[in-house]
Amino acid sequence: MEGVIHVVGLGPGSRDYLTPAAERVVTQAEVLVGGRRALDLFAGLSAQRVEITGRLDDAITAIRACYRNHRVVVLVSGDPGFYSLLAVLRRHFPPEELEVIPGISSIQLAFARLKLPWDHATLISLHGRELSILQPFLDKFPLAILTDPVHSPSQIGQYLLSQGVTNRQARICQDLSYPSERIIVTDLEGMAAMEAMGNAVVVITDE
Ligand SMILES: C[S@@+](CC[C@H](N)C(=O)[O-])C[C@H]1O[C@@H](n2cnc3c(N)ncnc32)[C@H](O)[C@@H]1O
Repeated sequence: MEGVIHVVGLGPGSRDYLTPAAERVVTQAEVLVGGRRALDLFAGLSAQRVEITGRLDDAITAIRACYRNHRVVVLVSGDPGFYSLLAVLRRHFPPEELEVIPGISSIQLAFARLKLPWDHATLISLHGRELSILQPFLDKFPLAILTDPVHSPSQIGQYLLSQGVTNRQARICQDLSYPSERIIVTDLEGMAAMEAMGNAVVVITDE
């Protein structure tokens, strides 16, 4: 008997940043729900798998069908509460039916790599959102932005320049925790000229 959905933050991607608490919950799963990359991280486990594709409704239906009788674990990148599935799950299930295991957010690892404190940072996601949501935050620093392949660092640089923002440093943190990790330090002009990329966090500062 279960009746609780375990929502597990996996961190930025590498197992080095997976917490022991998260690993323990995942290894006890009977049903694993997550994107392809998250499921691949646990390819050795015998749990049944539900892959989340673009259609979140299908994943919710699959969870609803089995969480009362099986141990269902939902895998998310970074931390579940930061621009992730927790908001969606709360719309469909009451909080007492959710257990949340925090994970290290890509934003946390970005600030750690940059050796910058983030106590006064403004955090925004452009993942699937319009560039214009940056408008109220043009004078907030540090400004940390989740990107996606459409709203990529170059698009953000071009947008900030078009809004008259100048004299800023831009740090682009791509593929954090993976062997392909890259940290690029440049200015807005340099960022605007970059090729489009995915899986990146941008941090804008005024120094
Ligand atoms: C849907 S959001 C999920 C954020 C996640 N909940 C977190 O706490 O990091 C996905 C975005 O997070 C950022 N991201 C996630 N993993 C990353 C990584 N390893 N390196 C750089 N950015 C990453 C990228 O901006 C990506 O488009």
